[in-house]
This record gives sequence, C-alpha cells and structure tokens, in this order.
Amino acid sequence: MRGYMRWFLAALVCMAVMAGATALSAWLMEPVVNDIFVNRDESMLMPVGLAVFAVFITKGLANFGQATLMAYVGLRIVTDYQNRLFDKLSRMDVTFFQNSNTGGLISRFLVDINQMRGAVSNAWTSLGKDLMTLIGLIGVTFYQDWQLALISFFIFPLALLPIVKLGRRMRKVTANTQREMGLFTTLLEQTIQGIRVVKAYSMEAYERARVAEIVERIFKLTMKAERTRALSSPIMETLGGVAVGIVIFYGGYRVIHGNTDAGSFFSFITALLLAYEPMKRLANLNAALQQGLAGADRLFQMLDMEPDIQESAAAKTLPTLVKGAIDFHGVHFAYKPDRPTLTDLTLSVPAGKTVALVGPSGGGKSTILNMIPRFYEAAAGAVRVDGIDVRDLTFASLRGALALVSQEVTLFDDTVRANIAYGRAGASDLEIEQAARSAAAHDFIVDLPDGYDTMVGEQGVKLSGGQRQRLAIARAMLKNAPILLLDEATSALDTESERQVQSALDALMTDRTTLVIAHRLSTVVRADLIYVIMDGRVAEQGSHAELLTRGGHYKHLYELQFAGEAPPDGPGGARQAAEG
Ligand SMILES: Nc1ncnc2c1ncn2[C@@H]1O[C@H](COP(=O)(O)OP(=O)(O)OP(=O)(O)O)[C@@H](O)[C@H]1O
Ligand SMILES: [Mg+2]
Repeated sequence: MRGYMRWFLAALVCMAVMAGATALSAWLMEPVVNDIFVNRDESMLMPVGLAVFAVFITKGLANFGQATLMAYVGLRIVTDYQNRLFDKLSRMDVTFFQNSNTGGLISRFLVDINQMRGAVSNAWTSLGKDLMTLIGLIGVTFYQDWQLALISFFIFPLALLPIVKLGRRMRKVTANTQREMGLFTTLLEQTIQGIRVVKAYSMEAYERARVAEIVERIFKLTMKAERTRALSSPIMETLGGVAVGIVIFYGGYRVIHGNTDAGSFFSFITALLLAYEPMKRLANLNAALQQGLAGADRLFQMLDMEPDIQESAAAKTLPTLVKGAIDFHGVHFAYKPDRPTLTDLTLSVPAGKTVALVGPSGGGKSTILNMIPRFYEAAAGAVRVDGIDVRDLTFASLRGALALVSQEVTLFDDTVRANIAYGRAGASDLEIEQAARSAAAHDFIVDLPDGYDTMVGEQGVKLSGGQRQRLAIARAMLKNAPILLLDEATSALDTESERQVQSALDALMTDRTTLVIAHRLSTVVRADLIYVIMDGRVAEQGSHAELLTRGGHYKHLYELQFAGEAPPDGPGGARQAAEG
C-alpha cells in the first residue's frame, strides 16, 4: 500500500469529484422543476440544460479516473504480494514443503491474494466514493428539507445490525471454501500426475467419487456464501421502500399544504434515490471486507512464517578451495520428536574418496545425505565439511560446494539445455555439451527432435528413465562441485542404459569427494569405504572385502541384494571376493 499512496490519493480526488457531481445533479432538480416546469422560465432552459450536461460528463470522467486508479493500486498490490509470498516460500525449508499440501500453497497465490485485492479495492472504493457521495446527497436532502431528511435517514442504521451479522458469517464460510479449494487443487494435481497409476489400478471411479464429493462440498459452501450475500438485498430493499414511502407521504403532504415547493421536494427525492445504491454498497462493505480479511489472514500467516533452518548471522563462506571432507559426529535426528531416525551417527568421508552407504530400506541413508546441504538439521551432534560445522556456513557457499543427484530425478518443463545448465546460468553451449558428453547423454540428445532445444515436458515425461538420469548427471557435471552426493536410483534400467548411466557416474565421481547411497554392486565394490546403515546407526564399516570376510550384516545384505548382479568390469571384481 505504502508505495501507491500517490495513485490512491489521486483516486480519492476523483471520488470526491464524483461525489460532488452526484450531489450537484440531485440539487439541479430544484431549478429544473421550479424554474422550468413550475415558472415556465424559457431563459433557464439553456443554463440548466448545460449544467446537467457538464455535471454528468464530469461524473463520468471522474468515475473512469477512480476506477482505473483503484484497479492499478489493487493489481499492484497483487503483484507485490505474489512476489513477497514467493520470496518467503522459496526460503522455507524442505520440511515445510513436506508438511504442506501443494494445492493449499498455490491457492494462496491465486485465490487469497485476489480476494484480498477485491476487499482492498472494494472497501476503499466504497469508503471513498460511496461514503463521499452519500455525504453529498445527505447534504442536499438536509439543505432541501432537514426535517424530512432526519426522518428518512433515521431508518438506515436499523439495517446495519443484521448486515454486520451476515458479514461475520461470510468470513467463516469463505475461510472454509478456501480450504476446500486447496484440497481440490491438490487432488486434481495428484490425479493428473498419477494418471497412469489411476488407470492401471482402475481407480477412475474412485477418483471421480472423490472429486464429486469435494466439488459438492465447495458447491454447498459457495451457495451458502451467495445466499448470505443475497440476504442483505431484501433487508435493504425493504428498508429503502419504507424510507421512500414515508418521504412521499410526508413530503407530498407538505407540498400540498404549501410548506415547501415542488422543486425542493423533487430534488430531495432524487437525492434519496441516488443515495440508495451507495448506501446498499456500504452495507455490503462489511461482507466484502470479511471475505477479503479471510484471504488476508491466510496470506499474512504465510508471510509471517520463518524457516526453522536459518543461516546464522555470523555464517562464514566456505573457502573456495574446498577439499571436501565430510564428518558426521554423534548426529541425532528425528522427523517426528518421539521417533528417532538417526541416533548418535558418526561417519566420515575423507576428502577425494568415495564412501558408500548401504543398508536396508528405511534405515536412514537418504536422511544422512539430506543433512549435508542442511535440508534437515541435526538435533544433536554436528555435520562438518572440511572441519567446519555446516551451521556456521552460508547456504550459498555450502550448497555451492555440493552436487546432489537424488533418487528421483527432477527435471523442469524446459529445454534439455536449460535443464543441464540449471544453476549455472552463464554456461556456454560448449560447456553444456561437454557435460552432456561426460554424462553419456550427448548422443541421445542430438537424436532428439530439436537436439539440445527439445522441451523435456513436465518432470521430463518425454524422456526415458535412463535419459532423465543422465541429464541429472550432466547437470551435476556442469556444476563441477568438489563434493558429490549421490542417491543411486533403484529403478531397474536395461543393461545398455545401466551401463551408460554407470559410466556417466564413474566420470562424475572421479576426483571428487563422493558420498553415494549404493544400490549397484559395482559402486559398492569401487568405494574406498562402506558404511552399513541400519536403524539410523552405523552397523558396520570397512571395505568390501573386509566386510565380506567379517560375515556380518553386510554379507547378509550382499547375498540378498547384490548376489544376482553381474560382477563389475575391470580389476578387483567382486566375484573373487564373493566366492572367497
Ligand atoms: N519426510 C519425512 N517425514 C517423516 N519421516 C520420514 C520422512 N522421510 C523419511 N522418513 C522416515 O525416516 C526413515 C529413514 O528414511 P530414509 O529415506 O532416510 O531411508 P533410506 O535408508 O534412504 O531408505 P531407502 O533405501 O528405501 O531409500 C524411514 O523410516 C522413513 O519412514
Ligand atoms: Mg533413500
């Protein structure tokens, strides 16, 4: 609001002009009736006619001015808040997004903000235009006949009571509608994205029923809101009728008995009738305001949020020459307070080495990986990079030193080129191509319809699973960070793309500190050190050969998970170890 004071004041001026013109048009009824119709004074035709003309043109122009100015202010508020809201959202941590529903977040941007805008511009328009108009018109009525004016405007406040009550109801209904709308958006999004699963499991009817149910709830709530809104109309209509009736009765009586002239009476009636619309809008103001406040509530709640994980004020920049050693020292972490996920976890990844995490599903491997970029924060203990606690580093320098390739590949609905260069805006075409080549992606990319300019579709749906993975690897290649965090995809690829992804990963892991969650035997065997993670603890550690000889969890896991896999190529193969 603050930045738009000038426009807003200009709009207020237009509203004042409009209010004045409206009052003037009512007042003009007096000369029209008295001079032209009663006295039949021909010389007054021209001036009165012109005055009416001028008043209406002024009113029209002023109305245009206030409407566009108010729209400008309102829409600017929307863009401002959309930016502020997104700014806030982008700062929130991973946990926040995991605990919110997407539809609810989206509807803040599309629905709540617009509702707030509606309330702001309606409320100010009503308060400015309608209130000033009303004051002008009331002035005219008092000028013409103050006794009659007192009587007719005494009735109005009576109408306010039920209207205020309606407003409160409106606010509650609106808040509920918003919530349902959020759920609806989420449901739609999930069904659309998961359409293959929906069809494969013949769940169309189930999803239809879910949508029908939620749509019906929204219908009922909206209907309730409309009914509430509509209710104010009969109330006002009745009261308006009573007021006009009394005026005609009492005013007519006075004209007939010669206490007042016809011109004054008509001017009075005109002012009263003109006052009716702004009065009605003012009475509805509360409802509109309440609706907007419901939106504003939700909006400001979100703007007031603070991420749990924040950069410390004294955060240092990680030195550019990162060696890349990673240490977990006695780390405790829990997603839910009472159920620890990591307990007293200590492990280290020496600079330049490859360390593999293996272990049963749900053991905490991905959690460990996510703690390095500070997506999650240790409840106790410390995570260190090159000996510096990650909490003492700036986000930018910490995350800049990491390349993350996660289990599920994230691609944006953009070109292949843009997806590889994500996070490296200035990358040249040559660099992009080099990254793609090292990721064994160049060949398939040039075979795509538009090469590097091919759009990959939402989440890369237009590519195969292996192709998507290689793009993600190329992206990490291009980032060329000293530390590589790799959550190997478990998805089964055919041997050929498996081989290509593997060679891409090999290239990526060279000369970097790598912490890899290994699902492939070849990765595990190549690692300098292996940690077996079970129930959020390190159960065993050592090299592949050591761990196999020990015959503990690792051997068991190995037999379950990897035994069927072909041994990796090259020296130091696993077969020997496995058979030994
Ligand atoms: N966002 C979350 N909120 C609550 N609990 C979670 C969340 N993410 C994971 N968990 C729980 O934390 C535990 C460890 O999960 P994690 O993803 O780290 O396992 P993992 O070892 O990577 O398993 P996998 O090999 O299947 O990928 C699991 O019990 C899981 O249910
Ligand atoms: Mg995992």
